[in-house]
Amino acid sequence: MNDLNANTTQDVHIVKNSLTHLHPYKPPKWASSLKDIPQYFVKLAQRNTPIHRWHIPNLPEGFSLSIKRDDLTGSTLSGNKVRKLEFLLADALNKKCDTILTCGGTQSNHCRATALAAKQLGLDCYLFLRSSEKSTDIGCNGNLLLSKMAGSNIIVVPNIRYRPGLKKMIEKMAENLKQQGSSPYIIEIGASSYTGMFGYLTAFQEMIEQNVLEDYDDIVVTAGTGGTAADIAIANYLTGSKLKCHAVNVADNAVYYYDIINKDLRAVGIDVQAEEIIDVIDGYKGKGYAVSTQHELENIIEISRTTGVLVDPVYNIKAIRGMLTEMKNNPGRFKGKRILYVHTGGVFDLYDGKIASLMRSLQSTEKTKQVLYWGDISDPLPC
Ligand SMILES: Cc1ncc(COP(=O)(O)O)c(C=O)c1O
Repeated sequence: MNDLNANTTQDVHIVKNSLTHLHPYKPPKWASSLKDIPQYFVKLAQRNTPIHRWHIPNLPEGFSLSIKRDDLTGSTLSGNKVRKLEFLLADALNKKCDTILTCGGTQSNHCRATALAAKQLGLDCYLFLRSSEKSTDIGCNGNLLLSKMAGSNIIVVPNIRYRPGLKKMIEKMAENLKQQGSSPYIIEIGASSYTGMFGYLTAFQEMIEQNVLEDYDDIVVTAGTGGTAADIAIANYLTGSKLKCHAVNVADNAVYYYDIINKDLRAVGIDVQAEEIIDVIDGYKGKGYAVSTQHELENIIEISRTTGVLVDPVYNIKAIRGMLTEMKNNPGRFKGKRILYVHTGGVFDLYDGKIASLMRSLQSTEKTKQVLYWGDISDPLPC
């Protein structure tokens, strides 16, 4: 074995030992009366993600906007799902499971994070990826590249709804794995489950310690499955409803989200209606889930070139556009003027090729800087 291999083996050993350690979980005081509190968590997320002012283009006059950088919960393990996985994967380890099964779209951030985290914990992983192509030829870029690099077992399935179609397929596979001697653990779509909720209850406590209850009036987040938004709204409710919570949906419609958030509230045992604790901002999913318009993609570039913050095309850009439009057209919808936007990550979605081709077509316009060539110091300066 050469030196390089020796080091790598040692590093892997260290990482395995620290990650597979189950840390006893103590919920924040305000959540301590909840039932079924997870016993353990594993440390996956980088904590205390920063909050800073965000001078985004087209922010309506009078509003001040800050951003909670949950896109910085990690490098490859970045984004909101990592916080939920801390509890779900701990549960899997605690139950002595050895194989994780979950699902998402072919560019799913949740699947990428699950695949990588599972492998770091020494677990096998099956990803059920929804695709409209009836083929295994689904590409190898963006999140999918990382999911493949994590050695996950990838099964392409049609673009069917989770309940009841896809969930049943996953359960059947889990049954089969069990018969073969494995011990499978299913993670619900988007890691949105009772146990996963503790990820954002913990994140809310982190935000309390960052003074958000004093510094902000409103909190805005995107909603895919709606789990993260529901968890934040529940945490806000349990801590005295100091903020007004808004969720901008990127699929379905407001009725659907209120319905699932109501189900979450019943599961938690909170006797309020979803409409009382969260404002679902509908009407900004554009052409539909995971379909981008040219305007949305251009806005992503505009935001990155002016603020240096990258936002993803599926979740955050749609939510940001919705938030800005509502601030302009419907400012009374917000409790106040000090808004905190929770950035949920998704950077690897920018590597699926669409933004790259837009950048190429914009190269000679004002919207991007031109690439210049300077061959030698004696040549004239390129600009
Ligand atoms: C980057 C990103 N942001 C937001 C969401 C939506 O979160 P939730 O499903 O909890 O609504 C997802 C879900 O996959 C995501 O990947």
